[in-house]
Amino acid sequence: MKITFCCTGTEPEPWLAGLRAALPQAQVELWQAGATPADYAVVWAPPQQFFDEQVQLNAVFAIGAGVDALLKLRLPASASFVRLDDAGMAVQMAEYVCHAVIRHFRELDLYAADISQGRWTVHPPRNRADFSVGIMGLGVLGQRVAQALTQFDFPVNGWSRTAKNLDGVRGFVGSQQLDAFLAASRILVNLLPLTVKTQGILNRNTLSRLQPGGYVINVARGAHLVDDDLLALLDSGHLAGATLDVFHTEPLPLTHPFWRHPKITITPHTSARTLRETSIAQIAGKIEAIERGDPVAGMVNLGVGY
Ligand code: NAP
Ligand code: GLV
Repeated sequence: MKITFCCTGTEPEPWLAGLRAALPQAQVELWQAGATPADYAVVWAPPQQFFDEQVQLNAVFAIGAGVDALLKLRLPASASFVRLDDAGMAVQMAEYVCHAVIRHFRELDLYAADISQGRWTVHPPRNRADFSVGIMGLGVLGQRVAQALTQFDFPVNGWSRTAKNLDGVRGFVGSQQLDAFLAASRILVNLLPLTVKTQGILNRNTLSRLQPGGYVINVARGAHLVDDDLLALLDSGHLAGATLDVFHTEPLPLTHPFWRHPKITITPHTSARTLRETSIAQIAGKIEAIERGDPVAGMVNLGVGY
């Protein structure tokens, strides 16, 4: 069995060593133009030339959860595409989102500003029931985030393409229930995949349906958000703030207003990192399962785009 590794922006050696250790029967090589055909590929942001040459691949494993960039390429018809299925990302995402929600709800930035000015001020407590959190996308990451938020007794709403039945989560389904979902939510967390249906979904129309004092947490993809619409709704006061981890262009250009906006907190696409060892173990286990003819989780449905 031959495995080729083609991950732009990733130090290849530790991955190659890890894959060789996990699958000693396999020949694992770093892809180079003109390389011999492989059975499996481990990829992130490969060039089009990679797929133009490796047309015989059986399965392609992305070393991330989102496959939007991969699906923009011309892909070999024979291959299945498999994304990371949690692999240690769900708990990181739960930490990040709970931190952002609690920081906003408990006014921790206001306290930090007070303390920096030498002010010992105690502000009135806020009513948790007024801070319902709406999670767009109830997949692997969204479900873990929802579960974590219910532990803090926040009212939690969830929106997905197909119906879910999750403890403590009020479920909304499909485009016909999107408006009701937004109207029931004050803090909005985006954990959707980027597809033709979800691009630009965080826009003036949708964000203005959030309850007054709304707060936006975008941890999925920058292209979900219409930047100018967010800025307009923050400046009008309808939205109280935003925490953004992902952007149309990354790194975020230094001239972009998000860097300096007083109501926006940014982080450099770090809310849920790919963990190398866990990911290698997951990918190796899935290659073995495919070789046995067993089903694997995280198969990309090319028809829906995630
Ligand atoms: P997932 O398991 O595939 O879940 C996607 C969820 O979105 C599912 O609940 C799906 O509904 C829902 N959905 C998709 N299209 C929809 C639509 N048109 N309308 C309503 N709901 C829709 O994905 P995941 O593993 O949770 O990851 C989600 C995304 O997070 C990734 O695609 C990636 O972009 C992002 N991400 C970001 C970071 C970071 O560091 N910032 C890290 C990892 C992932 P169904 O359940 O009905 O299918
Ligand atoms: C990161 O953004 C991922 O999709 O894993």
